[in-house]
Amino acid sequence: MNLNLHETDTPRYIERVKKYNEGKNKYATVITLGCQQNEADSEKIKAMARDMGYTLTDKAELCDLIVVNTCAIREHAEQKALSIVGNFKALRRENPDLVVGVCGCMAAEPHVAEKIKKSYHHVSFTLEPSMLHRFPELVCRTLLDRRRSFVLGLDEGDVVEGMGSVRLSSHKAWVSIMYGCNNFCSYCIVPYVRGRERSRKSEDILAECRELVGLGYKEITLLGQNVNSYRADISFPELLRRVAGIPGDFIVRFMTSHPKDASDELIAVFGDYSGKIAPSFHLPLQSGSDPILKAMNRTYNRQRYLDTVRKIREAVPDVALTSDIIVGFPGETDEDFEATLDILRTVRFDMVFSFNYSIREGTRAAGMQNQVPEQVKKERMTRLLDMQCEISREINDTHLGKTERVIVDAVEKKDGAVLYNGRTSQNKLVHFTSSGCKIGDFVKVKITRAGAFDLFGEMEEI
Ligand code: 5AD
Ligand code: SF4
Repeated sequence: MNLNLHETDTPRYIERVKKYNEGKNKYATVITLGCQQNEADSEKIKAMARDMGYTLTDKAELCDLIVVNTCAIREHAEQKALSIVGNFKALRRENPDLVVGVCGCMAAEPHVAEKIKKSYHHVSFTLEPSMLHRFPELVCRTLLDRRRSFVLGLDEGDVVEGMGSVRLSSHKAWVSIMYGCNNFCSYCIVPYVRGRERSRKSEDILAECRELVGLGYKEITLLGQNVNSYRADISFPELLRRVAGIPGDFIVRFMTSHPKDASDELIAVFGDYSGKIAPSFHLPLQSGSDPILKAMNRTYNRQRYLDTVRKIREAVPDVALTSDIIVGFPGETDEDFEATLDILRTVRFDMVFSFNYSIREGTRAAGMQNQVPEQVKKERMTRLLDMQCEISREINDTHLGKTERVIVDAVEKKDGAVLYNGRTSQNKLVHFTSSGCKIGDFVKVKITRAGAFDLFGEMEEI
């Protein structure tokens, strides 16, 4: 269901906590792990915390409310989250009024919620991402009713507008357009923890984007687990066209696209608005082997993937293509892995994010018999990384001597010298010198040095 926050009980809980906190000078922090979706969610959690009367800080030791927004995509991410949560036990001992909450994808795994309830007594609540708007209710129950809460209202979830956002950046914004995933790729926990696909109304998304442009934001990234599944009053290509059509000096990005429905219509919009829509396209391949793609339930094959790549390149010749690869999916043979390397050689991605397959309890692949030994995964990963590193470096070398349009993201100090960093329109990280620029500016940078993962250059004076 699509609701406004005012149609829920949340404002009442916000008011109750705010009243409780009045005059108490309380601090809150939100620790974010995982993907951009979590970053966007954390910005909403922060807005609700602020509305409840907390001052936001990065210093956990000052805090009366600590929220850990967790990731469940791989085992390593879960271990990291639990270790961070565990570390707050000592703070809680010192401050019995400290509220520690665990949000995000891990909180939506019943066995994790159970473990936290039983073994992490200093945690007051867990809250899954599809229920984000209930955050104030859980804080209220902890503070006023002295109750721990472990909400598991899995699966559906509503789209709740009006939560607000305390944005980390004042020039780059995430805009979630849809939540959840229906694809059930056999390795992936996301559909189980983020619930079914649900889309925001286009008018709400467009109003948010117009507001951001009005505030001077230079980059808007439309976010969803699979943006091409956006289904509301209009389709995703039409939404993208309308966002790109908002007047103003800004660029649009979108992620993530599932290759199975990166449609001709989407590619046409990508081409028509090239420039305004940044020339970078993230298209997770996962594997280059047809039998593995089938076992992954990806519903495309290598030929179709290659056709899509060709169409994208025809529409936007200077596109930077990036991808995700899983190494060592159950049953992956040397031959299957070679097929993945073969696609990497054929497509020549600008960058690849590669992950060793990690068993996720509850997914279909977790029950598959033919798991690949860790040592084999490791060896394959090394080969993949070596090869991709060379390709990325060769591609980046072609930028030498060129002038790129860059958004300035940060100032960095290195060996006493001041450097800036930012992203080219192809989303490549570039470090550069400048005699003067501000974070959030669009500047021109001449590329003087290239590595596999980043570029270096000098800002051109205007
Ligand atoms: N093991 C390893 N990598 C995974 N991903 C998703 N689930 C798993 C898993 N169980 C990767 C996919 C996805 C990216 C966000 O994380 O490549 O595109
Ligand atoms: Fe996971 Fe597949 Fe959905 Fe992506 S599309 S979130 S990999 S199930």
